Amino acid sequence: MTKALALHYTSHPHKDYARLYEQIFGLDSHKQQLMAMLRLILDKDAYKRWKEKHHKGSTLFADKSLVISPLVIFSGDVGCGKTELAQSIATPLAHKMGGKTIHCYETPSDIRGGGHVGELSTRITAAFDQARANIPKGEYGIMIIDEGDDLATSREQNQAHHEDRAGVNVLIKELERFAKEGIDIAVILITNRLSALDPAVIRRASLHLQFDRPDPESLAPFFKSLLTGTSVSDEQIQELVDVCKSKQPLFNFSDIRRRAFVQAFVDSVHEDRAFGPEVFIEKLKQLKPSPTFISEP
Ligand SMILES: Nc1ncnc2c1ncn2[C@@H]1O[C@H](COP(=O)(O)OP(=O)(O)OP(=O)(O)O)[C@@H](O)[C@H]1O
Ligand SMILES: [Mg+2]
Repeated sequence: MTKALALHYTSHPHKDYARLYEQIFGLDSHKQQLMAMLRLILDKDAYKRWKEKHHKGSTLFADKSLVISPLVIFSGDVGCGKTELAQSIATPLAHKMGGKTIHCYETPSDIRGGGHVGELSTRITAAFDQARANIPKGEYGIMIIDEGDDLATSREQNQAHHEDRAGVNVLIKELERFAKEGIDIAVILITNRLSALDPAVIRRASLHLQFDRPDPESLAPFFKSLLTGTSVSDEQIQELVDVCKSKQPLFNFSDIRRRAFVQAFVDSVHEDRAFGPEVFIEKLKQLKPSPTFISEP
């Protein structure tokens, strides 16, 4: 029997996601590019309004040929903000789009179901149908496919199973259908293994954002924010940056925030002392960066 499909659902704008988005550092250019693309994917009238304002009465090449695929791909290293940016972008985007509701659906990690014949394809179709059926007219949707290589594995790979090939075909068909029917749903597909993604899926992305470990020199605002409420000097911020520069591979954001920073708090509470830059520097020095995810050929 095929397993029921449970999509994770959130409605935006939402104050928790506004906070999450604000706490994503060092990705300003990604945020900007993503916002611009999603806006055009979702709001089919945005082009008309822009044209009315800037090129009223003229015929532009783009009038008939501007086809924007609903697919955006995020790829790159672990712990660099892919999932959190995908989950939170809908809130600032909804504000930008005049407060219209954006419905976000995330495919579950068991999207493949029980591995029965045809099950992956059926579940992909069911995910898109569910989103389509539940988004009221005039509102927008975003479908997040995290760990997307699981689903869009290259049909070329030797080990590619018939089931995977069928899954990729269905995904491509759904994307084409969205584009053709002008459905107001964007798809964000996230992967650590770009090389495992089917080229036909990669080709259909209107935007591809690569996520890398941060340049240590860019981390000062991140450290200042993490040390809010403590007395921290510019020299200590520089020392944190220098510790990061001394590591190979570099730290990802998650190493700093979910490991060194958390360990510094745990120690402070356990040893009953104040939290501050000293203990954070100490923990960061001791921490080994998580191994890089080598995926590119
Ligand atoms: N750009 C960032 N700014 C601040 N914190 C970040 C950033 N990126 C990641 N983090 C921290 O790292 C944690 C993991 O982030 P996230 O789950 O978005 O990473 P990911 O790129 O999806 O990783 P994976 O490939 O392992 O799924 C977050 O909970 C957050 O604390
Ligand atoms: Mg992730």
